[in-house]
Amino acid sequence: MADLTTSFLGLTLRNPLIVGSSGLTDSVEKIKEIEQAGAGAVVLKSLFEEEIIAEMEEAMHRMTSRAFIYPETFDYMDEEEEEDSVRKFLRLIRESKDAVQIPIIASINCVTSQKWTYFAKEIEDAGADALELNLFILPTDFTRSADENEKLYFEIVEEVKKVVNIPIILKVSYYASNLGQLLQKLSKTGISGLTLFNRFYSPDFNLETYQVVSTNVLSTPADLPVSLRWIAVMANRVDCDLAASTGVHDGEALIKQILAGANVVQVVSALYKSGYNHISTMLNEMTRWMKHEGYENLSDFRGKMSQSKSSNPAAYERVQFMKNFRHFIHE
Ligand SMILES: Cc1cc2nc3c(=O)[nH]c(=O)nc-3n(C[C@H](O)[C@H](O)[C@H](O)COP(=O)(O)O)c2cc1C
Repeated sequence: MADLTTSFLGLTLRNPLIVGSSGLTDSVEKIKEIEQAGAGAVVLKSLFEEEIIAEMEEAMHRMTSRAFIYPETFDYMDEEEEEDSVRKFLRLIRESKDAVQIPIIASINCVTSQKWTYFAKEIEDAGADALELNLFILPTDFTRSADENEKLYFEIVEEVKKVVNIPIILKVSYYASNLGQLLQKLSKTGISGLTLFNRFYSPDFNLETYQVVSTNVLSTPADLPVSLRWIAVMANRVDCDLAASTGVHDGEALIKQILAGANVVQVVSALYKSGYNHISTMLNEMTRWMKHEGYENLSDFRGKMSQSKSSNPAAYERVQFMKNFRHFIHE
């Protein structure tokens, strides 16, 4: 019987399939279903740094305006306050931890290292097993240099590391000028994992209204190669774990990411399309393949196709391009 257990961030997961941050992971009920469906862990839907800052400013405003209110009205006001997204998020962590055994990874979508970072401590105190930071840094600001953009990544890690001891994962994009080196440097900052890659909203144009609209919200299997390449290139070259994300839609893609060197694989779009039952379909496919290949554990084949272990490292680079495209004939 194939053993799918995997180590990730120092935690032991029953298998490497993690349900990634999305609307699929925003309630305790869904998280219970995900556990029942067989996933190894879950990343909660992200809280935005703007939500944290807005709540902080609102709380400050309440405190200063209360100076003019009779103290006996405080209790009444507390009862009236609605639960904001920030407190809801902390409650989701606490209740999920009570409801399921699988690790709960909290998530924050952030663009700066300002003001919000204190909140990471509250996430830790609520019981999250780890914190994934979805760094939404798109280099479209023409006033910032490449160095300044990269500095942001390090500042965010430094500030968050000051307040928490739980493992930190950075979920990053491939929009960086020297990606391999950046990922390698980030892995040495004391983070526990890198998720390659996040998927930004993709723009399209409406030709009647001339509006920018969003397209391809869900990925397809055709989106797999970018993360597959970079997992394969970075495996054994970083000082942290690697989580693959984007374009994993079936058991084969799951196997390929482990072969490339991923410790775990995040799945979202495939579950939006096929439901939570697809989790066991994918895991069964991997188990069957492992049996067929004679593998007992994931470590028997993890990273076997990584660039550093490959007998043909040029396959990830220009030589492959020359070989395939020079003689490409459309049939
Ligand atoms: C509807 C939807 C909501 C998402 N919300 C988040 C989010 O809150 N935080 C985040 O880090 N990623 C979010 N993502 C991105 C996914 O976590 C994932 O990185 C992306 O969909 C690529 O993986 P996939 O190909 O398995 O879908 C969302 C994706 C979708 C489709």
